[in-house]
Amino acid sequence: MRPLSSVFSRSRERFRNAVGAYMLGVSRDVPGSHPASFRRALRSTTGMTRWLDEFPAWLNPAEPWIASLRALYERPQTYPGSVSPQAGLLLHALVQNIAPRTVVETGTYLSVSTHWIAAALRSLAPGAHLWSFDTFDALEWKHPGALAALGAPSQRAFVEGALGRAGLREIVTLTAGDSSAGIAAAPLRECGVQLAFLDADHTPAGVTRDLRAVEPWLDIGGYLVLHDTNPASGHEGPRYVLDNLSAIAAGRYEVVEYCTMPLDFGMAVLRRVG
Ligand SMILES: C[S@@+](CC[C@H](N)C(=O)[O-])C[C@H]1O[C@@H](n2cnc3c(N)ncnc32)[C@H](O)[C@@H]1O
Repeated sequence: MRPLSSVFSRSRERFRNAVGAYMLGVSRDVPGSHPASFRRALRSTTGMTRWLDEFPAWLNPAEPWIASLRALYERPQTYPGSVSPQAGLLLHALVQNIAPRTVVETGTYLSVSTHWIAAALRSLAPGAHLWSFDTFDALEWKHPGALAALGAPSQRAFVEGALGRAGLREIVTLTAGDSSAGIAAAPLRECGVQLAFLDADHTPAGVTRDLRAVEPWLDIGGYLVLHDTNPASGHEGPRYVLDNLSAIAAGRYEVVEYCTMPLDFGMAVLRRVG
């Protein structure tokens, strides 16, 4: 009989090929098991200035949402702040497999992750909805002159235009302001939350606040996804939350971590178990 470990490594290989990410390990409650040395680049990214070169050729731009997403990846403003195409594919696949009715996203930015999530939601049962939260004021601060370059009066107006061209506007509710305050005030009690993607304030306090804000609505069996879990991404918060989960949310989550191609900013999937 084939040893179990070889079965796992074969399926892991298949998974890596499918979504361009691979499993680092599974742990319950306290991960602490992340590799000692994270790798910032999983393969050579010399000279990369936008994600477009990583956009899968097999995604058909005749689909409006794919054309809109591709146009976003053409923009220098979405590199590297937006999720990479491979991290987006992973999000898209998670949504399709988990089949949530309600998804929360913190950190809309220019709506790259919003496109991946909302397009997957649209392929599910009618009525599935994404609540996306952002202060909608970071663009000019990070990229002075960006709004003029994007030809939009505001970051929010740009996002609304992109989602409209993608045919996804109806599926997404955009909420301006601090994400944790927005989540607490949103009417999520009735529907509950089955998946939350946290990608807004990346400080330890910010990620902890978002987690605490979404927890009252998050179903048992629901999922949290943290982006930028590798400290080499330049962000401390997501790693802090993973490493301190036993203090922040003892016994409430199972955790799986992933490298994300081609720059390993890292992603973690937390499943609520208690
Ligand atoms: C890394 S970007 C998100 C990228 C986006 N998920 C994507 O894939 O394109 C982070 C966003 O979080 C927003 N943000 C930061 N702190 C926030 C807060 N406290 N509340 C709401 N949004 C916040 C910023 O305005 C910025 O647009």
